[in-house]
Amino acid sequence: MELELKQLRDRCIADLSAVTELKSLDNVRIKYLGKKGELTIALKGMGKLSNEERPVIGKLANEIREEIESNIMAQKQLLEQQEIEAQIKEERIDVSLPGQKHQAGNLHPLTTIINDLKEIFLGMGFSIAEGPEIEWAKYNFDYLNVPQDHSARDLQDTFYYQDDIVLRTQTSPVQVRVMEEQQPPLRIISPGRVYRFDEIDATHSPVFHQMEGLVIDKGITMSDLKGTLDLFAKKLFGEQTKTKFRPHQFYFTEPSAEMDVTCFKCGGVGCKVCSNTGWIEILGCGMVHPNVLRFCGIDPDEYSGFAFGMGLDRITMIKYGINDLRLLFENDLRFLAQFK
Ligand code: DAH
Repeated sequence: MELELKQLRDRCIADLSAVTELKSLDNVRIKYLGKKGELTIALKGMGKLSNEERPVIGKLANEIREEIESNIMAQKQLLEQQEIEAQIKEERIDVSLPGQKHQAGNLHPLTTIINDLKEIFLGMGFSIAEGPEIEWAKYNFDYLNVPQDHSARDLQDTFYYQDDIVLRTQTSPVQVRVMEEQQPPLRIISPGRVYRFDEIDATHSPVFHQMEGLVIDKGITMSDLKGTLDLFAKKLFGEQTKTKFRPHQFYFTEPSAEMDVTCFKCGGVGCKVCSNTGWIEILGCGMVHPNVLRFCGIDPDEYSGFAFGMGLDRITMIKYGINDLRLLFENDLRFLAQFK
């Protein structure tokens, strides 16, 4: 019986060391120590032993059981360790491999210009106003003193939704909305999209961008207009920039002017950017017409003000040397990525 037990132990230990997977370990335990296991069955035969033999064999059997159990534990730890090591090996990240590059985007040049302009005017105490792109015809024309028979109202020039609703052709109707809703003193700018019935080419698009400006207070004069816009031009194009005002005609301002700035490229000598004139036309402006103030419920005897409007696409093109307006709207990444 002693030999039989020792052989059983040796077989069990051999079986254990042959186990390579944790889940098979339990099979070995059951095979030897389970209810119908080899050791259990062997011990059932102990009844046949003599009184002297029984305690000796009993002791041995217990020792063997303990030995088998501690062997199972040891094998279990070994296999667990191996499993962890295999997992570490498999999941290891090679930090020396090149990473995947994420392409960072950048602002559209037009957005950059709008941000620059906002910053300049916010710095001068203006706030930002908004108006709808689908606008009452009377806000786009009538309240801005545009005559009933003016050609800008033509179907060839303006997108009509209904007789009295248009896609705004300019940001100027925001002036009307601001004056209707707020009391002077007013100091606002309003950048946004505008629409005109134009064929697309290098300098025209049915959708483009403008920025409106409006100042209303007591005692505002043309010199306030000139001082403000001259400062703005210097901040946008550089300290050396000079401005000049040419008389012009707009229905909602009187007197009206267009403002030119000295070419930021050649400094006024003449080059390709300024078509050899030394000057670049930047915006329209003027003193708000008394009729417009009256239409909007502001007393022209008490208040006066100035307004201005500029084409943002044009300014963007001039500033960045872009020669085709279409590039601003095509969203070609090869173009846009140049403004990083
Ligand atoms: N709305 C004019 C345009 O689209 C631009 C403009 C000129 C706006 C003079 C003004 C202004 O506010 O005073 O051509």
